[in-house]
Amino acid sequence: MAQEALARARELEHLSAQLSHELKNPLGAIKALVQLARREACDDQSRERLEVAENEVERMNSILQEYLSFSRPLDKLRRERCSLGALADEVLGIVGAQAATAGVAIRRAGEALVEVDTRRLREALFNLVTNALDATASGGKVEVRIAQRDGEAQVEVRDSGRGMPPEVLERVGTPFFTTREQGTGLGVAMARAAFTQHGGSLEYRSEEGRGTVVVGVLPLQQKRVTLGAASAG
Ligand SMILES: Nc1ncnc2c1ncn2[C@@H]1O[C@H](COP(=O)(O)OP(=O)(O)OP(=O)(O)O)[C@@H](O)[C@H]1O
Ligand SMILES: [Mg+2]
Repeated sequence: MAQEALARARELEHLSAQLSHELKNPLGAIKALVQLARREACDDQSRERLEVAENEVERMNSILQEYLSFSRPLDKLRRERCSLGALADEVLGIVGAQAATAGVAIRRAGEALVEVDTRRLREALFNLVTNALDATASGGKVEVRIAQRDGEAQVEVRDSGRGMPPEVLERVGTPFFTTREQGTGLGVAMARAAFTQHGGSLEYRSEEGRGTVVVGVLPLQQKRVTLGAASAG
């Protein structure tokens, strides 16, 4: 299971590197052309519009860099000491307004101190929490439960939402598997890759109509993640 997850993380890594590589060149060309057109524009309105276009290209560039941080080698985690409770609160803060509008109660319980790549873990938690919110109707709740025991930290994201039928549960985390019209199907795959890269794991339990629990585990002692078996084949 862990090997399979690592193999997937590797697949994603390749895919991300490829994608960012292939998107960067056309984006660079667009940016240069927009800059040129802006310099040569004869009226203020065109200049302003082209400036907006240029800023948007810049924004796409940073999103690419941020989102596709998977093109960083697997072993290059930037670990720092961090409170999982504070990290979860940060994520819940970001989705607070969305949850309030949807009528979903969100809360965090528990705490653990870990040494992790904060940015990657935040992204992972964000993906799990937004999935939980997506699945939960008004009146429901989403909870992030954190615990620390037996040399590991546990982060559970629980929701009282629609749950998953067995055929969805079986495929959740497969890159590009999605049941949502606007979904990319990368959220869980990236979240799982983040936990696996830290030497941990991410597992789902779900019951249709009752809700979903996703359990992320992070070892407190750093283990070196070996890629030998995962890269074979
Ligand atoms: N908490 C949950 N409750 C019910 N279904 C879920 C839950 N989390 C994930 N899923 C199912 O797993 C699928 C894959 O989730 P994933 O986050 O990988 O992609 P997505 O949410 O569809 O798109 P995105 O890439 O934008 O996150 C979802 O489309 C949904 O069907
Ligand atoms: Mg998602």
